[in-house]
Amino acid sequence: MSTVAVVGTQWGDEGKGKITDYLAQEADVVVRYQGGDNAGHTVEFNGQQFKIRLVPSGIFNAKMVIMGNGMVINPKTLLGEMTMLTERGIDVSKLLISDRAHLIMPYHPEIDEIQEDKKGELKVGTTKRGIGPAYMDKFARIGIRVGELKDPELFALKLRINLEDKNEYLRANGKEAFDFDAIYAEYMAYAETLRPHIIDASYILNKEIDNGSKVLFEGAQGVMLDIDHGTYPYVTSSNPSAASIPVGAGIPPQSIHEVLGIVKAYSTRVGDGPFPTEFDDEVAHGIRERGREYGTVTKRPRRIGWFDATIIQHTRRVSGLTGLSIMLLDVLTGVEELKICTGYRLNGEVIEYVPSLINEFATCEPIYETLPGWSEDITKVTSFDSLPANAQAYLKRIEALAGVPVVMFSVGPDREQTIRLKPIFK
Ligand code: IMP
Repeated sequence: MSTVAVVGTQWGDEGKGKITDYLAQEADVVVRYQGGDNAGHTVEFNGQQFKIRLVPSGIFNAKMVIMGNGMVINPKTLLGEMTMLTERGIDVSKLLISDRAHLIMPYHPEIDEIQEDKKGELKVGTTKRGIGPAYMDKFARIGIRVGELKDPELFALKLRINLEDKNEYLRANGKEAFDFDAIYAEYMAYAETLRPHIIDASYILNKEIDNGSKVLFEGAQGVMLDIDHGTYPYVTSSNPSAASIPVGAGIPPQSIHEVLGIVKAYSTRVGDGPFPTEFDDEVAHGIRERGREYGTVTKRPRRIGWFDATIIQHTRRVSGLTGLSIMLLDVLTGVEELKICTGYRLNGEVIEYVPSLINEFATCEPIYETLPGWSEDITKVTSFDSLPANAQAYLKRIEALAGVPVVMFSVGPDREQTIRLKPIFK
């Protein structure tokens, strides 16, 4: 039996979609365990590009894909994706949705917007998809679950109770109230199409694991956006860390065998919040353009920073990485000198951890070492040995600082431009 988790080690957008798609060629089942349509995964193969936000990136290869109970699901986005995929010849009948996952309702994005406006300096810069408000309802025990689409009476009762409260809040904040009948009709129509996909996902998944299926867990966002271990409050409202897989997918903790940390060869961040290695000059501009560093969901230009080993060590501690996949290495081609952050200076002291206090993290000065870059085109490289010596040294240094072996690296967006150094599934 073999299961592998794919986890973002930085602030998301590390290329998890690409690696999930690549490994899904060997996997039987691919499972998402948190987040919602705030994620944006780009998958490219055979000259085709797919951008998906909710459906697991394994949809192109695996025999079964599961949206786990830890997710918050906007059915409108989901049905849009399912239609797009079907029109482009992808079979979506293998998509299963946990009946315990929560629904994003039309009022959640509106509430997200109001909450952001009220936060002033503490504005998170959310994707405004209603992710935070949907998780708030889940934990307040008033959320509506996917399985409840199959029980119109219960759905109606919960919608009524929610609307009473939500509409009062919306009106008080200058927004229009929502109409019960309109939402009820809209969601019951979604229910018709989604019904065959809604199942007890944990039950099915555990059976697959017990039968020896190869299972891939696909994380969304990254550990620095984790509600507990990220740069709180500038985080998302779920736990992208591998530690949340057992809860978000409904499996025993010991069923996770490998945790593959997806690492961008530099750093990026969208949204607000401190980012110690951020820089903004011609080199950063070049990286942004070559790396197509614009948000998949919001199209915002991503902030660019140097590689930060302190962050990867933090992710290793809270997420248990067993291997690294270094992404977008080709984007660094032509950068003369590459900086790597090995720790921070905070109030005159050197620290090698991520402080929890956001104001402290904001004043951390990165301590850099500098490595020479390379100028050779590496987009057609197919092995570690055929990389320029400086690129090899860069990967080796990342590996040494992270304390985790590099098992894959990527030199371009296509599935073919992925180099594997060791087997991932045992
Ligand atoms: P939310 O998840 O929409 O609430 O946004 C919270 C923070 O997470 C914001 O800084 C977003 O930009 C960031 N975020 C959410 N999803 C992603 C993602 O898939 N990639 C990168 N950043 C994300």
